[in-house]
Amino acid sequence: MSEPAGDLVAAKFQEKYGASPRIFRAPGRVNLIGEHTDYNDGFVMPAAIGSYTWIAAARREDHILEVHSSHFEEKINLSLDALAGPPRRHWSDFIRGVAATLQDAGHLLSGANLFIHGEVPLGAGLSSSASLEVSTALALSSLSGIDVPFLELVKLCQKAEHEYVGTRCGIMDQFIASFGAAGHALMLDCRSLEYELLPMPQDVRLVVCNSMVKHELASGEYNLRRADCEAGVKLLQPYLPEIRALRDVQIADLEAYQHVLPTTVYQRCRHVVTENQRVLAAAKALQSGDVDRFGHLMYRSHASLRDDYKVSCRELDVLVHLASSSPGVYGARMTGGGFGGCTVNLIKTDAASSFKTHIAQAYMESTGIAPEIYIYEPAQGAESWPSVGGHV
Ligand code: GLA
Repeated sequence: MSEPAGDLVAAKFQEKYGASPRIFRAPGRVNLIGEHTDYNDGFVMPAAIGSYTWIAAARREDHILEVHSSHFEEKINLSLDALAGPPRRHWSDFIRGVAATLQDAGHLLSGANLFIHGEVPLGAGLSSSASLEVSTALALSSLSGIDVPFLELVKLCQKAEHEYVGTRCGIMDQFIASFGAAGHALMLDCRSLEYELLPMPQDVRLVVCNSMVKHELASGEYNLRRADCEAGVKLLQPYLPEIRALRDVQIADLEAYQHVLPTTVYQRCRHVVTENQRVLAAAKALQSGDVDRFGHLMYRSHASLRDDYKVSCRELDVLVHLASSSPGVYGARMTGGGFGGCTVNLIKTDAASSFKTHIAQAYMESTGIAPEIYIYEPAQGAESWPSVGGHV
């Protein structure tokens, strides 16, 4: 499905520049469980999906990045000598930010022509942003002849999103876009950055339902949630001096000191503390092949995001409710930052296509919206791709 996209960007590049490009790609992701825990030093369990940001690129001898976006049908020029500046709320902030943070870290970049084609739906909670950042970082560093270790690329891309896009995101999305492995979910400890690849059972599929309600993380709600969590830690620290982040808080301690927290902050903290426990339990369930238990934890995660963290919306709740009464479904929940976007559904392989038909119709009846539904298997993280015309 994706391979022709590599050929397509190569052909487009060839048409524009009369030269053969090198091809790079990084995937989107779905998060199976562990939502809004990454920036609290907690645990997450995403999987990369076979939907990519593709970049055809070649080096230039000056200090210019000439960047075409097929999605926005727009071309912009950036000077590598003048990348600094606040977010401009334009898609090029991602490119500008990645190039600037690479250079600030001491990696001197060459100019480049880039043609970008994104398959990951925008604003759908499937991490189109990180897939663009990581594919850009891989393209720019490779073309400049610099070998930046993936872990450093991940951290630089996260920094770029904080400083040049304005979302104070955690590290999950950039991490899975880089370290994802085919057939596996990835369990990540966002404090130590140690991770484990967990094989997904052969007979289940990840079905992603797009509510078609677009989210906009940079618009503020995401950063507000993060600020609530940080406020909770500050208010609890006088009583629990050993804590550094919500990761360190036990549910019994949170309940004991509930009275020192405003209600909203308490609810946000309760989501994070219980969600961390659910991720650990889900990893055990997956390791022991208990998919029913895994699915049950997904439903509980959704309820917590809806009721305590308040990042769901009516359409996502409808999708999860419909899934819960559909045959062959182990579990369902919203995935990603929230406020719209997608649900992830864990489904018996042989039930996946009838689920797709059923949910599309039932969602349409309930909301008047036609959803998009994708069936995924976990995919590989960022890589360079052999171009049709050969490497430059
Ligand atoms: C967005 C952010 C991630 C993470 C999720 C919520 O995708 O980029 O870092 O916080 O939201 O789990």
